[in-house]
Amino acid sequence: MRRCLIVAFLLFPLLCLPGSGSADTFTCLACHSAMKGKIRADNNVLIDVNVDSDKYEGSVHGGFDCIMCHKQFQSNPHNPAKAGNLPRNIAALSGKLSSKAKADPVALAACVECHDEVYKGWQDSAHGKNIIDKRQADGAGCLDCHGSPHYITPKTAATSMVNRKNIVKTCGECHENERIASKYNLGTHIIERYTESFHGKKFALGHPNAPTCISCHRSHDIKKWDDPDSPVAWENRTVTCGKCHPGASKKFVAAITHKPYGKDNPIPYYFEKGLIVLLFGVFAFVVGHVILEAFSEIRDFVFRNKKEDGPHE
Ligand code: HEC
Ligand code: HEC
Ligand code: HEC
Ligand code: HEC
Ligand code: HEC
Ligand code: HEC
Ligand code: HEC
Repeated sequence: MRRCLIVAFLLFPLLCLPGSGSADTFTCLACHSAMKGKIRADNNVLIDVNVDSDKYEGSVHGGFDCIMCHKQFQSNPHNPAKAGNLPRNIAALSGKLSSKAKADPVALAACVECHDEVYKGWQDSAHGKNIIDKRQADGAGCLDCHGSPHYITPKTAATSMVNRKNIVKTCGECHENERIASKYNLGTHIIERYTESFHGKKFALGHPNAPTCISCHRSHDIKKWDDPDSPVAWENRTVTCGKCHPGASKKFVAAITHKPYGKDNPIPYYFEKGLIVLLFGVFAFVVGHVILEAFSEIRDFVFRNKKEDGPHE
């Protein structure tokens, strides 16, 4: 079967397709692993027509037929089935993802079929709402954080974009971006502020328990920080920080922010100043104590000597 298709492709590709009725991975890869480069689709977006068959097979979805996601191509490659043939939830969702899709919004919506829980969380997140409700393309969709849908590896693999080692860079693609920060009124230099924080420094040193972005914000159901459901909303912070700092108090949780310290951000500003004053206070106390101690030792010594000298006179 496979050989027939590949040969057919080489000789006269389209002969084999119409009416062949077969839409398995081999059919698709016959063309898509042989074709190289990018083409401009109808909507004027550049799409990469190549799918590397080895990398695809090695990915978490490697055993799947292409049409498990590209459901439009079920009846015949590139002859989309009528929307009526699609599961209703996927058809509805694909319409809402149009701002983000490059080539096939149905494939982008198909993830919901198997990753229901994750999808629900994402749809309700700041990122999902940006795409689905606001119809913008700036929020993070599945592929922005997981990379090409054809080559997804488990999060434990070093190649995964969401591996612990890569996550800060993945979020940083957008959260270091000035245009996005100003368009959505988000803080700038978030990555920089994280990197120079206690946490970022410990993370860089390989501390196994140092938090990354997702330890405080979660991965899929990421909320705006002032949303009561956000783990970093004021009312939830003692719990979030408390996972690693048992007994974290309201005062303690004010210590972490991405905002630059300064007048507009007084709590951490004075918290830090307070720490410095405390540190120097303790230092001054210790030094003072040592000096006084030394002084009394000297005084005692002199006094004792005088006393002992006394009777000889
Ligand atoms: C005969 C060769 C051939 C076969 C077989 C083939 N494709 Fe394609 N495919 C192409 C070409 C050429 C393009 C780019 C031009 C275009 O958009 O039609 C393309 C484009 C695409 C795109 C980009 C979106 C689009 O509609 O342009 C997707 C997705 C796709 N193919 C998926 C598949 C899947 C899934 C299969 C198997 C069910 C398949 N293809 C089988 C040649 C093929
Ligand atoms: C796990 C789901 C999934 C599977 C399985 C899958 N795809 Fe895709 N594919 C997608 C998604 C999602 C997109 C991006 C759609 C978009 O941005 O509009 C895509 C995009 C594409 C494109 C366009 C590339 C581009 O630059 O966007 C081609 C061509 C394609 N797929 C071919 C295939 C072929 C061939 C197979 C089987 C070997 C396959 N796909 C299997 C989900 C999948
Ligand atoms: C037909 C069902 C199906 C569809 C559709 C599907 N997946 Fe998956 N996905 C799976 C299965 C099964 C696994 C492997 C689970 C495992 O190993 O625990 C998986 C694994 C994953 C993983 C890796 C999890 C890990 O271990 O770190 C990610 C990420 C993922 N899928 C994203 C997507 C995205 C994005 C889409 C849509 C483009 C999609 N999936 C579509 C079934 C599916
Ligand atoms: C903002 C980035 C981001 C977006 C957007 C995103 N993911 Fe994830 N995803 C992650 C991270 C980070 C992890 C790893 C979580 C961990 O290490 O505990 C993950 C893990 C997963 C897993 C493995 C199971 C798990 O929960 O650990 C699946 C499956 C998955 N994602 C599917 C999806 C699908 C489907 C979408 C689109 C609806 C999506 N992701 C969108 C960041 C993202
Ligand atoms: C130790 C917990 C913690 C870690 C780790 C963390 N954040 Fe935050 N994040 C917060 C808190 C608390 C806020 C609330 C607003 C503030 O004080 O900056 C916040 C706010 C935000 C905001 C909204 C900023 C604004 O001005 O509206 C974004 C975006 C954000 N974080 C992204 C990230 C990214 C990306 C990373 C990884 C580099 C990360 N965070 C790591 C705790 C954390
Ligand atoms: C593709 C770009 C992109 C990626 C990747 C991305 N984000 Fe975002 N993020 C955005 C945009 C855009 C918004 C603002 C959405 C809006 O307000 O409509 C946002 C909003 C947020 C917010 C809410 C900010 C607030 O208002 O309090 C947090 C928290 C956040 N992202 C964290 C993360 C984390 C953590 C990661 C990585 C796991 C990540 N983001 C990856 C684009 C991205
Ligand atoms: C995933 C675990 C984790 C989370 C969640 C976390 N931290 Fe930390 N934090 C650490 C680690 C690890 C260190 C380094 C401790 C050390 O070296 O002893 C640290 C250090 C600190 C320090 C430096 C002083 C000290 O006590 O060592 C402060 C302040 C701090 N964290 C505040 C916070 C705040 C506020 C939050 C919540 C917004 C938070 N942390 C959330 C793991 C975490």
